[in-house]
Amino acid sequence: MINVPKGTKDVLPQDSYKWQFVENKARETAKVFGASEIRTPTFEHTEVFLRGVGETTDIVNKEMYTFNDKGGRSITLKPEGTAGVARAFVENGLSNSVLPAKLFYITQCFRYERPQAGRLREFHQFGVEFLGAKNADIDAEVIILAKTFLESVGIENVVLYINSIGCKECRKKYEQALKEYFNSNYDGLCALCKDRLNKNPLRILDCKNDDCKKINEGAPKILDYICEDCSNHLETVKKLLDVANVSYKINPNIVRGLDYYTRTVFEFVSENIGAQGTVCGGGRYDGLIAELGGQDVPGIGFAVGIERILMLLENTNKQIENPNKVKVYLAPMGENELVKAFELTAKLRKEGISADFDHMGRGIKAQFKYADKIGAKFVAVIGSNELASGVVRVKNMQEGTETDVAFDDLIEFVK
Ligand code: HAM
Repeated sequence: MINVPKGTKDVLPQDSYKWQFVENKARETAKVFGASEIRTPTFEHTEVFLRGVGETTDIVNKEMYTFNDKGGRSITLKPEGTAGVARAFVENGLSNSVLPAKLFYITQCFRYERPQAGRLREFHQFGVEFLGAKNADIDAEVIILAKTFLESVGIENVVLYINSIGCKECRKKYEQALKEYFNSNYDGLCALCKDRLNKNPLRILDCKNDDCKKINEGAPKILDYICEDCSNHLETVKKLLDVANVSYKINPNIVRGLDYYTRTVFEFVSENIGAQGTVCGGGRYDGLIAELGGQDVPGIGFAVGIERILMLLENTNKQIENPNKVKVYLAPMGENELVKAFELTAKLRKEGISADFDHMGRGIKAQFKYADKIGAKFVAVIGSNELASGVVRVKNMQEGTETDVAFDDLIEFVK
């Protein structure tokens, strides 16, 4: 037997309706906020992520699926959605059409991480990117969109953490303070962080190494360094979230693991799914479009991990109704009756009613068992009497009632 590669999963028929439920809610929520879908390729030139996500991030350093294609080009399977969307925005000149461009996507992503509950090597994101607006009201809008989506799928017990990581200008002062602090703790840092110290000290703050984590506890906090504009921006986001009755906690330790962020960053975290509790992460990225060769266009967005949403729904015993159950099951007792069942299912299906009949030559008892397994709402046994009278007894499996219905009235009855 050949198994799936480590860190990947099949979505089996008995579970796919749950995925459809979450994806439908994502699409519905995006729509009411005026966002349109964008689809970008599964792989990009590696440079998109080197420049977009950043060369000192864990994603780029350790986790990317990068290979040379047969033409010798360096190709990477997308580890996240934002950089590819930004590349598409620039390449297709979307800044010349309506702004803000309100975009959303549902995509698979690939990261070579150590798999555990809620952490996979192939996973799926619902992401949103709003490009073109620099004011804080759009930050609040994007955060509210994420929250609206989480609530629409039935997720309530998540905490929203917010922080500002400043702009290019205030970041310079902060990086200087970080360098001084980490230099005085140099010996305790892991090898990777020693390397990060000169390249990008901010990245040390989200290192997973236990020694680095301890050192990080005493590190200077960004909120003590942000400039007046960045501070006002954060205050406006907070004010609008208050107006919208969205509760949040300011958490100066949220720095996010990707380099493109500026100003607002946020995460929705659950305590119900263990260590990988971050179900949604996002923030503003005012320099990304220019970094990828576009104009000076600001942006903000987030991505939700779909597997983590499903895990959370499962762990909190949220029931999702399976809409794909067969509505009508016809149980023929012999060959002639099978022809009638064949004819009737075709008529039902033409009316958009899901219907099925026995394909396995089962006896009546086994057919009822099967009908139960596929969740049929109505079951009708067709024997020689039914063929002669043109009337069939329809059992409502949910209510346990039985009704005699003429073949010709079956569609109306089950509708
Ligand atoms: P991220 O925090 O790297 O941000 O990922 C977003 C979400 O994807 C996480 O909160 C988590 O739910 C899910 N996720 C990440 N890695 C894994 C994994 N290995 N297995 C399962 N789920 C995972 C981004 O990707 C940014 N592009 C978000 C963004 C969009 N920022 C602005 N716009």
